Amino acid sequence: MMTLKGDIDALAESLVASIAEQGRCDFISAVAEQFPVRVFLKMMGLPQERLPEFRGLVREVFAPRGNDPLEMGLRLRKVADAMLDVIHARREAPQDDLISQLWALEIDGEPMTIILMEDYSVLLFLAGLDTVINAIGHGIRHLAMHPQLQAELRANPRLIPKAGEELLRRYTFVIPMRRVTRDLELGGVAMKTGDIVHSFLPAGDLDGAEFPEPNLFSLLRANRAHVAFGAGPHRCLGMHLARIELQSPYRLVLEMLPEFRLDPEYPAHFHAGNLLAVASLHLRWALEGDCL
Ligand code: HEM
Repeated sequence: MMTLKGDIDALAESLVASIAEQGRCDFISAVAEQFPVRVFLKMMGLPQERLPEFRGLVREVFAPRGNDPLEMGLRLRKVADAMLDVIHARREAPQDDLISQLWALEIDGEPMTIILMEDYSVLLFLAGLDTVINAIGHGIRHLAMHPQLQAELRANPRLIPKAGEELLRRYTFVIPMRRVTRDLELGGVAMKTGDIVHSFLPAGDLDGAEFPEPNLFSLLRANRAHVAFGAGPHRCLGMHLARIELQSPYRLVLEMLPEFRLDPEYPAHFHAGNLLAVASLHLRWALEGDCL
């Protein structure tokens, strides 16, 4: 992942540079949404010119929806179809990208199949895009609400990785689902085979027994073992990439923008489903000669 860091920093820098002279923006659409999509295109070996198409797919796939599995299936089929040409091309002519590396895998001694390739590519799309967009959204919103923290991190950027972890804990936002495979009772709750369980990770990271004053952001916590990336065998496979993707925009926003605040004219919007999502995040900062 560290070999991607230079490219990731350059992407973040160009996006933050694109807003620096504006004095205001919706940070989600101007930066947070484009950034992981560009990283994803690069990592998968898809051309950057396909950014608008993949941004459109992100919006469509992650739009709030009902519980219709058929509709979700159709949305995911679209994602697989968008990558199918490259998946086929890399089978014949591997390059230096993740799709080529996936083709080289064997699972239990069996070679990869096109069905598995589609599944993994869609999984990476689902797992690696909306998560990063929202983690950045929550993190930047917190910074916008706490100018003194911005000042502290500007003065001491070495604290940014620690701050990034504490932001993940404070704003844990993924709610993974599980299907119950046998009748059982857990914590006094009866569960039946086939039931769907939402494991509300934010409750774990805001548990006062684990984290005293859990709603408080603090760089001084003794316990930093959060579950924002899940726990157990399905713990996030992309967490090392995610950490690079979060720290890079935090660092560059602090370096390249002056103190920024939430824009009182346009309150942030949120929505909730499998994630607690930041749908829009309007910020303001002073341009030279102005004040906020
Ligand atoms: C801040 C960003 C991220 C957060 C908060 C996050 C969170 C999570 C969580 C909570 C899970 C566990 C889901 C479960 O238990 O069912 C998970 C799984 C996963 N994540 Fe992430 N994730 C992030 C970024 C990424 C990125 C950038 C990638 C890759 C490009 C990625 C790839 C995956 C994959 C492949 C899994 C499935 C692992 C498995 O089922 O064995 N994630 N993530």
